Amino acid sequence: MRHPVFDLLEQDMERDAALPFVDLAARYFLRTRDGTDPVSTALASAEIAPRFDEPLPESGHPLNEVARRIELDVMSAMNQLAHPMCMGHQMSAPLPIAVWVETVIAAMNQSVAVAEMSPSATVLETQLIRWMAGLIGWDAGAGGTLTSGGTEATFTALLAARARALPNAWRHGVSAAGGPLPVVLCGEHAHYAVTRAVAQLGLGLDRAIAIASRDWRMDVEALTVRLNALAADGVPVMAVVATAGSTATGSFDDLDAIGALCEAHGGWFHVDAAHGASALLSSTHRDRMRGVARARSVAWDAHKMMLLPLSAGMLLVRDERDLDGAFAQRAPYLFHGDEDGRVWDQGTRSFQCSRRADALKVWAALQRYGASGLGAIYDHLCDVARELYAAISVHSRFVALHEPESNILCFRWVGAAGEDAAAVDEFNRVLRERYNRSGRGWITTTVLGGRRVLRVTVMNPRTSRDHVVALLDGLSEEATSMQREARSGVVAGGQQV
Ligand SMILES: Cc1ncc(COP(=O)(O)O)c(C=O)c1O
Repeated sequence: MRHPVFDLLEQDMERDAALPFVDLAARYFLRTRDGTDPVSTALASAEIAPRFDEPLPESGHPLNEVARRIELDVMSAMNQLAHPMCMGHQMSAPLPIAVWVETVIAAMNQSVAVAEMSPSATVLETQLIRWMAGLIGWDAGAGGTLTSGGTEATFTALLAARARALPNAWRHGVSAAGGPLPVVLCGEHAHYAVTRAVAQLGLGLDRAIAIASRDWRMDVEALTVRLNALAADGVPVMAVVATAGSTATGSFDDLDAIGALCEAHGGWFHVDAAHGASALLSSTHRDRMRGVARARSVAWDAHKMMLLPLSAGMLLVRDERDLDGAFAQRAPYLFHGDEDGRVWDQGTRSFQCSRRADALKVWAALQRYGASGLGAIYDHLCDVARELYAAISVHSRFVALHEPESNILCFRWVGAAGEDAAAVDEFNRVLRERYNRSGRGWITTTVLGGRRVLRVTVMNPRTSRDHVVALLDGLSEEATSMQREARSGVVAGGQQV
């Protein structure tokens, strides 16, 4: 007998079948609009786990029941990124057009790696890459690929740099190079994607050299000294990686100066602009990216400051042939040159084989809001971070560690003068934990200059000045309770404060 699943498949392709799920997303957007719900859950993973601890479902359930389980068991214990008080990691409150287009991307299920598997989406991705390369200031010889994110983009860029520095490594391994292996230089505050890639590429983690920061960006003088010393010692430089929009503070390295140094020394210049490249869409902030056109490769995550839902990473290269060189594999059953000799297949230039048409949601966001709309959103996110900075500047209990250059700000509760710095570190750690658990807001923490700090990333166009003022008020109230409890000897957050 024919299994009933085949009838269900036809039913589930109808519009009505989608509505419970569209409804879940739309009600979530609506519910979070005024910011009165808790931002996140106070439940720990072990407390959530029993919800899903059930036998593998042998037979299916009605659609409404599946939607209900998602609402009750999943959405009730999520971080509500669309909530204006959610100011945690670099995760977007996603652009609604892109959320809806996700359904279309999945329905089409085109694999953009191979043109014959995605006739229109492969071409669309190529055009999107052209637009982005144009914003960088590159000409038609540029190319690129969408990636799962900044980590893959930087890995791919360094793979291309390795192909240039060690052309035999692909076939014979890095040891075939003879002589000293090349090094990769990056700022001390670079994302771990850089050092991880150096290790993954077989150079060894020791070949990654961290350059000290000054004002949270790469110290160009220290870089100059190091490059000269390496040249004098005969150590080849495979690449210099600058960061545009650093993870911890959102600071921008001096791309112009670093690019000029790379030109003088001959190293590959990669810019990890996963966070900050979207400044190119803003007439106010574009200048922070000055010099980016000097790079040979740029990582740009549209799922960060362009507010696309995951994933929408991009790697752009000034010369498309560099990517072909990075992935020097052959797959004649997949990749074919066109009549004009051009290889449209993106798989020749990309880490992944099967790959989603994420380019479509980025394209759709540009069609719907325009580059100027996305630039205005970028400006707004940065303006709100600046409002927080202004509010902290006149607050007696908090200090900012830096002026925001983008939408990220690190600050610290400093408490009473003369307090032990380690105790203040611990106080900040517990303060963040308790505040997040309260549901009033959600922020992150990091270690900066050896001190535990609170960190805010504004990733939601709904977040305004009022919300960052509410954040400071909420943190102050939590800190006051902690001090009161400490005076009366109560243990807070599982820790003595
Ligand atoms: C500067 C920078 N580079 C790279 C990454 C990694 O990006 P992804 O998580 O998209 O791989 C991040 C993410 O936080 C980042 O801030």
